[in-house]
Amino acid sequence: MSTEIEISFKEKVDIKRLPEHIAIIMDGNGRWAKAQGKHRIFGHKNGVKAVREVTEGCAELGVKHLTLYAFSTENWNRPKTEVSALMQLLFLTIGKEIKTLQKNNIRLNAIGHIHNLPESNQKALREVMEATKNNTRMTLTLALSYGSKEEITEATKILAQQYKDGKISLEDINTETISNQLYTKDIPDPELMIRTSGEHRISNFLLWQLAYSELYFTEKFWPEFTRNDLFKAIYDYQNRERRFGMTSEQITEQLTTNN
Ligand code: IPE
Ligand code: IPE
Ligand code: MG
Repeated sequence: MSTEIEISFKEKVDIKRLPEHIAIIMDGNGRWAKAQGKHRIFGHKNGVKAVREVTEGCAELGVKHLTLYAFSTENWNRPKTEVSALMQLLFLTIGKEIKTLQKNNIRLNAIGHIHNLPESNQKALREVMEATKNNTRMTLTLALSYGSKEEITEATKILAQQYKDGKISLEDINTETISNQLYTKDIPDPELMIRTSGEHRISNFLLWQLAYSELYFTEKFWPEFTRNDLFKAIYDYQNRERRFGMTSEQITEQLTTNN
């Protein structure tokens, strides 16, 4: 047993300066399971608890949007047995978690190639999204069969078609019109992106939307990630200076005039 005393970060978080949107790459389920001599699927099953922890943690603080990377376009290339186990787990989880979503007034949303998921999963997702559509406390977006390069490619095709049909001119293509063609058009860009398991990469997640996000990496594997780890990440984010290309002096001046 560890004798280390865990610091509680909840009280350290400044509720007035919360990120509006947090995005998470939930990574490390397989390695967590393997470290205990268990099968990778055991890791995925235990990852569900961490999903509940961060969902409730975000809602509790007042974060408006949480986006979880649950299955990437590239994850289809995993062994068939792992893919079907993940799909089954997703199906069961969506069914079970509806209670938590309703209790916490959370709306469920999904982005990605949802049409590529098994029909049973699509149906379960549709039902829960419909049942929670009027919930207002927070939007939980699941990125499923999601790939950012594919998302940007599709947006490009839509704009090219609109141009070809004479509906828009070349000048109409700008960062805003591109953003409006992405799956995330109704969601602000994440201010904070967290990745667990010690990997320092984006893995085709929200490439456009993360342009100015603060990136937070932790060594913890996803099944070990707790509410307090989430609060710690937010606290870390709040102690950074977001300069957006400006100088530190300009940012300080902006802050003093705004307060
Ligand atoms: C993240 O954990 C879950 C999914 C990608 C579906 P991994 O399954 O990638 O676990 P590691 O990274 O192999 O340990
Ligand atoms: C990214 O994790 C995708 C999800 C967490 C759903 P991966 O484990 O698939 O990413 P790589 O292969 O390490 O880049
Ligand atoms: Mg991984």
